[in-house]
Amino acid sequence: MITIAMFLVLLFANDQLSFSEAQLRFGFYSKTCPSAELIVHNIVQQAITRDPGNAAVLLRLHFHDCFVEGCDGSILIKHDANDDERFAGGNAGVGGFDVVDEAKAELERICPGVVSCADIVALAARDAVAEAKGPFYEVPTGRRDGQIANMSNAANLPEVEDSVNILKSKFREKGLSDKDLVLLSAGAHTIGTTACFFVMPRLDAKDPTINPEFFQVLRSKCPQGGDVNVRLPLDWESQFVFDDQIFRNIKNGKGVILSDSVLYQDNDMKKTIDSYLANNRRSKANFATDFAKAMVKMSAIGVRVGVEGEIRRICSATN
Ligand code: HEM
Repeated sequence: MITIAMFLVLLFANDQLSFSEAQLRFGFYSKTCPSAELIVHNIVQQAITRDPGNAAVLLRLHFHDCFVEGCDGSILIKHDANDDERFAGGNAGVGGFDVVDEAKAELERICPGVVSCADIVALAARDAVAEAKGPFYEVPTGRRDGQIANMSNAANLPEVEDSVNILKSKFREKGLSDKDLVLLSAGAHTIGTTACFFVMPRLDAKDPTINPEFFQVLRSKCPQGGDVNVRLPLDWESQFVFDDQIFRNIKNGKGVILSDSVLYQDNDMKKTIDSYLANNRRSKANFATDFAKAMVKMSAIGVRVGVEGEIRRICSATN
C-alpha cells in the first residue's frame, strides 16, 4: 500500500516540469470550446498556404514565448512603450503575432473568454510542424496567460554565439536535457531562415568548422559589408520540409548558424546527432517521435494553470 509519505516522495521526485505538465491535460477545451483546436488549425493552415515561411515563424514564436516567463503568451503583449518582452534584442525577427491574433479573434467570437493565448501559440506551433510534414502530436492544454512582459526578462535567451556549455545550461535551467537541446534547436532549424546578420560574424572569423565549399556559398550570399537582412535557409536545400537533413548538414560542416554547428563539436551532442543519421534502420533514432516529445516538454515550461494568470480578451494586451 502506498503511504502518504511515499506518495509525497513520488510526487516531489518528479521535476518541476513534469509537475506543471501534469496540470495541463489533453483536450482541455473539449467541453468548453470543442472546436478550439480546429479553429487554430484552420487559421494556421491558411497562413501557411499564404506564405509557407509562416510554419517556421510560428514554431519559433513558441520557443521564444516559453523561454521567457514560461509558455504564457507574454511575448504577444504590446504596450505603448517599447520596453515589452517582444522588443528585446534576443526576440528580433520573431513573428506570427498576426496569425495568433486572427485565431484569437475567431475563438472569442465562438467561445468568448475561454481559450488562452498561450494555448493558441502552443497549438499553432504543433500545427505548423505538421503542415511542414513533421510529426503531429497531441498538445496538453489549459495554459493561462501571463500578465508580465518586461524586456529585461528576455535578456538571457540562448544566443547564436553561446558556447555549447552555455547553451546546455540555458536549456537545463528550463528543465530541458542536452538531447532536448539538439532536438529543439538544431532539430527545429529543419525549417525556416536566418538573416545574414547571424551568419556574418562566423564568416568574418573564418570559422574552420564550415565546409570550405559551403563557406564560399555562404560568403557569396552574405558578403562582407553586405546587407545583414538578406535571409538564408537554416537547413540548406530543405528549408520547407521537416526532415533530418539539418543533422546531415551539421555533420558535413554545412550548418548555417554557429549554435547549430557548435553542437557537433561536443562528443555527447555529436553522438545524439549521429543517432538520427544511423544507416541501420534498427539503430536509427526516430527524429520525428523524439522531436514531438521534446516539444511537449518545452510547451510545459513554467505554465500558469488553474486560477493563475488570466484568459486575455485580446492577445496583445492584458485584460
Ligand atoms: C540554442 C538555441 C537557439 C538559438 C541560438 C537559435 C537561434 C536562431 C537564430 C539566430 C535564428 C534566425 C533568426 C532570424 O534571422 O530571424 C533562428 C531561427 C529559427 N529558430 Fe532558432 N534558435 C534556438 C532554438 C530554437 C528552438 C528551441 C526552436 C523551436 C523549437 C527554434 C526555432 C527556430 C525556427 C523555426 C527558426 C526560423 C524562423 C524563420 O524562418 O523566421 N529555435 N534561431
